[in-house]
Amino acid sequence: MVGEAAITSRKLGVDDLPACLQLDRLALKGLWTREQWERELSDESRVVMGVDAEGGALIAFASAWLVVDELQITAVAVDPIHQRCGIGARVLQALIKQGAARGALSASLEVASMNAAARGFYAHCGFFTTGRRAGYYANGDDALLLSRTLETGRDTRTDQTE
Ligand SMILES: CC(C)(COP(=O)(O)OP(=O)(O)OC[C@H]1O[C@@H](n2cnc3c(N)ncnc32)[C@H](O)[C@@H]1OP(=O)(O)O)[C@@H](O)C(=O)NCCC(=O)NCCS
Repeated sequence: MVGEAAITSRKLGVDDLPACLQLDRLALKGLWTREQWERELSDESRVVMGVDAEGGALIAFASAWLVVDELQITAVAVDPIHQRCGIGARVLQALIKQGAARGALSASLEVASMNAAARGFYAHCGFFTTGRRAGYYANGDDALLLSRTLETGRDTRTDQTE
């Protein structure tokens, strides 16, 4: 378990590829391939933030693409045994802080309408629904489009992260 005071986010890079793949399989059932993760972790227009457990294992990540002034959030995941401890919110705040520092004015993402945990999580983090794509996912579920504005250069709720 990670105490709240010990939740520190860091920018992930290619050295974190095996840990990202492992956590992706554990928490997201394998969202991306190794090649896709390599691109996420090396491309300058993409940002991936992570949180390590006290023993060193990666227990959370949040990733996004920076497209002009919009931070397009692509994934947030927390190791199931560490969920509901505030870690997801902290790593997402760290990602938003990075995006804002690099000029993002808003953040957006898509979430499956049936993913109640993620919907509750993103609402908690200040996102609101701006649209819906019917039948977007392979299982027929709709995608909800969520968005929030960012404070320029600095997200005031991130004071204790990083
Ligand atoms: C969604 C996810 C990232 C949340 O991470 P987390 O560390 O458990 O979330 P936090 O502890 O920071 O939760 C912050 C707030 O979000 C909301 N929330 C989190 N999990 C929730 C759930 N299962 N149901 C409803 N609300 C939830 C709550 O308001 C919570 O505050 P509270 O615990 O004080 O009530 C995590 O559940 C996860 O990895 N899920 C699997 C992957 C996934 O679906 N990712 C999102 C799509 S890419």
